[in-house]
Amino acid sequence: MSIQQNQCSSKKLEGKVAIITGGASGIGEATVHVFAEHGVRGIVIADIQDEKGRHVAEAVGSQLVRCNYVHCDVTHEDRVKSMVDWHVQTYGQLDIMFSNAGIVSPTDKTVLDLNLSELDHLSTVNVHSMGACVKHAARVMVKGASNLNLILLILILGSKGARRRTDYVMSKHAVVGLVRSASLQLGVHGIRVNSVSPSAVATPGLCRSVQKEAKEVEKMYEPLTSLVLKVKHVADAVAFLASDKSAFVTGHDLTVDGGFASW
Ligand SMILES: NC(=O)c1ccc[n+]([C@@H]2O[C@H](COP(=O)([O-])OP(=O)(O)OC[C@H]3O[C@@H](n4cnc5c(N)ncnc54)[C@H](O)[C@@H]3O)[C@@H](O)[C@H]2O)c1
Repeated sequence: MSIQQNQCSSKKLEGKVAIITGGASGIGEATVHVFAEHGVRGIVIADIQDEKGRHVAEAVGSQLVRCNYVHCDVTHEDRVKSMVDWHVQTYGQLDIMFSNAGIVSPTDKTVLDLNLSELDHLSTVNVHSMGACVKHAARVMVKGASNLNLILLILILGSKGARRRTDYVMSKHAVVGLVRSASLQLGVHGIRVNSVSPSAVATPGLCRSVQKEAKEVEKMYEPLTSLVLKVKHVADAVAFLASDKSAFVTGHDLTVDGGFASW
């Protein structure tokens, strides 16, 4: 096989079209780039940071990849539905929904100080939005597109407790239920549902939340291995789950944490 042929066959997502929520920053932004490298022909970035979202779309868009930014607050089901419908009208199909948009708790509380209004807000962003994205992506996929995938993003704390940020951990546990149930219900339609659980990765969102620089964040969450988790590691795992290389994998949560959860 020539080098050129080999490069082509390493493109795991050739010809597919995807929606990436939260694609203006952090893990979502890295995934936009990795999907483009793997040959997707179209990406919609759905986010609320308009300037950053447009910038990423312009940086990635080319003759080979059509990349659009759409302002979409994923906490509103009607806006998620309109964005998905627009995507299908524009690209003719939907192969991959990467429901990634999410926030970290604004405060670092234990259950003793759990603030139920904050919990409601966090649940709306981290749980309701995932429900809306899966529901409306799955509806259009069931109607006709082929080669389907749905992916969600959750945190390692989706299956473990934590000493702090109870509300965040609760919200990510809820998404585990969505992944497991949706994978059972949608398999009959050829739709796979998986999630990725990274440990802490120094994105703008996490750095803002813990009020630390990226280097300090990386130090705080040093893994057991010498590897420091970067957004590209997470995006590569997402690309694997989105591709036919994982054709028989569904209902699975792929941990990407350099051994952090081995304790
Ligand atoms: N950074 C980490 O350590 C880490 C670890 C595990 C999981 N996660 C999860 O990864 C996802 C991405 O986080 P990140 O660290 O890249 O953060 P980030 O803040 O850098 O990126 C998140 C993006 O989501 C967008 N967003 C937030 N609310 C939105 C809404 N209502 N509608 C549309 N877009 C919205 C933001 O504008 C931002 O562009 C989140 O779900 C987060 O919980 C992060």
